[in-house]
Amino acid sequence: MEKKDYKKEFCALMNRFAFRYSKWQIWNDFLSLSAISVANVMPVPEKEEREKLYLSIISSYQKEDQEVFPKMLELVVLALEENPEQDFLGSMYHHLGLHQEQKGQFFTPYHICHFMSELQFAGDEKEEQLKEKGYISVNDPACGADAMLIAFANVAKKHDINYQKQVLFVAQDIDRTAAMMCYIQLSLLGCPAIVIIGDSLMKPFLHPDNEAWYTPFFFLNRWRFMPGQEEREPSDHMEAGCNENVADATSSLLWDMELTEGADGQLMLSMEQVS
Ligand SMILES: C[S@@+](CC[C@H](N)C(=O)[O-])C[C@H]1O[C@@H](n2cnc3c(N)ncnc32)[C@H](O)[C@@H]1O
Repeated sequence: MEKKDYKKEFCALMNRFAFRYSKWQIWNDFLSLSAISVANVMPVPEKEEREKLYLSIISSYQKEDQEVFPKMLELVVLALEENPEQDFLGSMYHHLGLHQEQKGQFFTPYHICHFMSELQFAGDEKEEQLKEKGYISVNDPACGADAMLIAFANVAKKHDINYQKQVLFVAQDIDRTAAMMCYIQLSLLGCPAIVIIGDSLMKPFLHPDNEAWYTPFFFLNRWRFMPGQEEREPSDHMEAGCNENVADATSSLLWDMELTEGADGQLMLSMEQVS
């Protein structure tokens, strides 16, 4: 059977809009619509506001154009399903010439990310952490479309770690477009992840000025990353929701992260350096 070229099909769909909208607008609208569709499956406080944004974006397109966005998302799903070992959106972003050089948006080739992730698994540290806490955590503070964390998930799987339950992913980027690509891909791969839009040097992590997007698998599993919550049913946590105004912290791949929930339901991300 002939192998499908998802990148070619994706470009062909983008070209259907040609001459009516800019590539940049289509790309960003596609990302916003897709990210909102995924995020609004969960009971987030921002649900209504995001729904309004969704409607305002989609209503700016004609009916035949509106139908193209779900088809684009379908291709991303199929491409990642066929080969999860890739940064599909990151490579499309580069291929379409949309990356912003002034922000240093040169995404790392996937095989380098894979190699770097393998290095993280050298030694017994991850195994010990897993035994002690039941999960490991990983952070990319300049995530781009997130080739790095996609590779980390795949390498964790290779090391018999169920990344959909046993890894807490935290990603941050100053650029909304990059963060949206990251959010969509980590969501589709089933990673429990927090994707933050904000400056990781000036306002790292869940700084009150930052915008945070939680993947569906984060909602299903967040109790696993909270000490003393092992007995709680996942559904309790889904009802509790997440609060956007939460504490700040800084991190790198060498930091160990833990979630705590304040009496008011606010989430806090605490960290500790792995020695
Ligand atoms: C070289 S790309 C790396 C992306 C990804 N980690 C990879 O390896 O493919 C750098 C990313 O950092 C982001 N960035 C630049 N300055 C930043 C800052 N102060 N805080 C957060 N992200 C930043 C850019 O928007 C860009 O997406």
